[in-house]
Amino acid sequence: MPYKVMSLANQKGGVGKTTTAINLGTAMSAVSKTVLVIDLDPQRNASTGFGISTTDQKLTTYDVLVNGASIEEAVMPTNVPNLNLVPSSVDLSSAELELGEEPRRILKLRDNLQKIEGKYDFVMIDCPPSLNLLTLNALAASRSVLVPLQAEFFALEGLSQLMLTIRKVRQSLNPKLKIEGIVLTMFDRRNNLSQQVETDVRENLGNLVYKTIIPRNVRLSEAPSFGLPAILYDHRSTGSIAYQKFAAEFLRRNT
Ligand SMILES: Nc1ncnc2c1ncn2[C@@H]1O[C@H](COP(=O)(O)OP(=O)(O)OP(=O)(O)O)[C@@H](O)[C@H]1O
Ligand SMILES: [Mg+2]
Repeated sequence: MPYKVMSLANQKGGVGKTTTAINLGTAMSAVSKTVLVIDLDPQRNASTGFGISTTDQKLTTYDVLVNGASIEEAVMPTNVPNLNLVPSSVDLSSAELELGEEPRRILKLRDNLQKIEGKYDFVMIDCPPSLNLLTLNALAASRSVLVPLQAEFFALEGLSQLMLTIRKVRQSLNPKLKIEGIVLTMFDRRNNLSQQVETDVRENLGNLVYKTIIPRNVRLSEAPSFGLPAILYDHRSTGSIAYQKFAAEFLRRNT
């Protein structure tokens, strides 16, 4: 299994980036893959989702980007075996300003990740809903981008902005950056629009779109308030089953 660094990105908010990072990561760890989730969002949703409070954590992605801490120092275990986390802090929202004109400011994360190369099967970077310096750091450090896409009107329009950014990053920072795939999230089978969007997205993006679709499921949204991945909170819920299926498809593509 190759060491793989992957960004979960979509500048649109609330499309399932964090839920996918948490549950794909947990499902892979359940089949003995080692996973590191890096919370690169000042909202800290990935950290909270693993039950890590600000008092539990010592060093964060803010310290890694701004204060010269190493990823290795900032890594902490979670309640999921085989899955570690680099937590985030609200301070991260000012990282862009604080890094100012510093040379290599876009390469902070890449430089740091190089030091742990090969230590995990998968490193997943949970990006904020913006194409800012944080997301650029993630894209510069990644081998690929996994894009959660909510099945709704304008889904494809929002995607074109992300694709443009990916193209720019390829031209300047990271020529080998790939699109890992696109996963449809919060899908409502009873809704005609969801189905139409699916058809549309598959026609336009073909094989990039995973077969597995993540349905809208209340367990997925409840789980973070218990500090647990849905797969641990209720492994029989339709959302958890979908993420386990998704992990299997994802791993098949990555062998
Ligand atoms: N399949 C789903 N079914 C029901 N609720 C979901 C599903 N996926 C995510 N949610 C809920 O929707 C909200 C947004 O999801 P999530 O935080 O994963 O999106 P995000 O893209 O990371 O958001 P942000 O852009 O703010 O970081 C959360 O409250 C989450 O619990
Ligand atoms: Mg998020």
